Amino acid sequence: MLKHTIKALVCAVSIGLAGVAQAAESASTDPIVIKFSHVVADNTPKGQGALMFKKLVEERLPGKVKVEVYPNSSLFGDGKEMEALLIGDVQMLAPSLAKFEHYAKPVQIFDLPFLFDNIEAVDRFQASPEGRALLTSMEDKNITGLAYWHNGMKQLSANEPLREPSDARGLKFRVQASNVLEEQFKALRANPRKMSFAEVYQGLQTGVVNGTENTWSNYYSQKVHEVQPYFTHSDHGVIDYMLITNTEFWKGLPDDVRTELEKIIDEVTVAVNKQADDLNREARAAIEKAGTSEIIELTPEQRQKWREAMKPVWDKFEDEIGADLIKAAEASNTP
Ligand code: LMR
Repeated sequence: MLKHTIKALVCAVSIGLAGVAQAAESASTDPIVIKFSHVVADNTPKGQGALMFKKLVEERLPGKVKVEVYPNSSLFGDGKEMEALLIGDVQMLAPSLAKFEHYAKPVQIFDLPFLFDNIEAVDRFQASPEGRALLTSMEDKNITGLAYWHNGMKQLSANEPLREPSDARGLKFRVQASNVLEEQFKALRANPRKMSFAEVYQGLQTGVVNGTENTWSNYYSQKVHEVQPYFTHSDHGVIDYMLITNTEFWKGLPDDVRTELEKIIDEVTVAVNKQADDLNREARAAIEKAGTSEIIELTPEQRQKWREAMKPVWDKFEDEIGADLIKAAEASNTP
């Protein structure tokens, strides 16, 4: 009797162990899944970057890592994507730099109007020790910055022509969820309204807002030219991205996988930043070709007026951002 019981026990234990071993085996062969969610279309700098990342990862880490890209707010929109990253529902995002104010006040620097003369200056600042330090400044909040990706310089759009800052007075402008951008439009005596990216087209179409600011590629891919008769080539600010991941997830990856992913990210970053300008130029040309809207070029005097009208915003955020950081960013205008 005892002999039978022992035999049965040994049998049960070995079946149990086999089950555990099998589970471990399949766990070790299941690919790591990286869900990459974003809010823009595929034919934009970020959209292309996400797809390029997926392609390279699946070529170089086949069976080990699988990347699922969710564009156009199809998985999470602006309001929810950061929370989703923090609870592990997605592993990678590339929010616009305007969307970090709850996590790191100094990142607000990228929203200051007329701080960077052009995208090359933005690039130099991002590559500087001060710019690099912002990537790791949110690790205590479980957010690791992996790279900066360019979109490009922002332009204004409205249902009325904007040539002088006073033309914006009283108009309602959609802004990203950023206090700096809200203040930027208040400085013009316009009415800013924070709205998620997915709501922009409808907001403009129905008159909830009368105008907005964005890059040519975001305008064209969202068909904003169908609902905005005027664009102003203002280059008054920048829309760029921080490619981010969940710190715990990233540190928990096998070393060889993390190293390969970092190499791929470096390659994709170079490619995205090289092609962003072309995508914006093509998008601007496509808007012109559509013939639905007028693109206003500012004279140097007019552009100077916009700068003077918006610049007081800097003082309001100097304490939160840091005067030294602003100086470092200004210095990046000189090659
Ligand atoms: C916006 O919300 O206007 C953009 O920043 C969206 C994006 O990610 O480019």
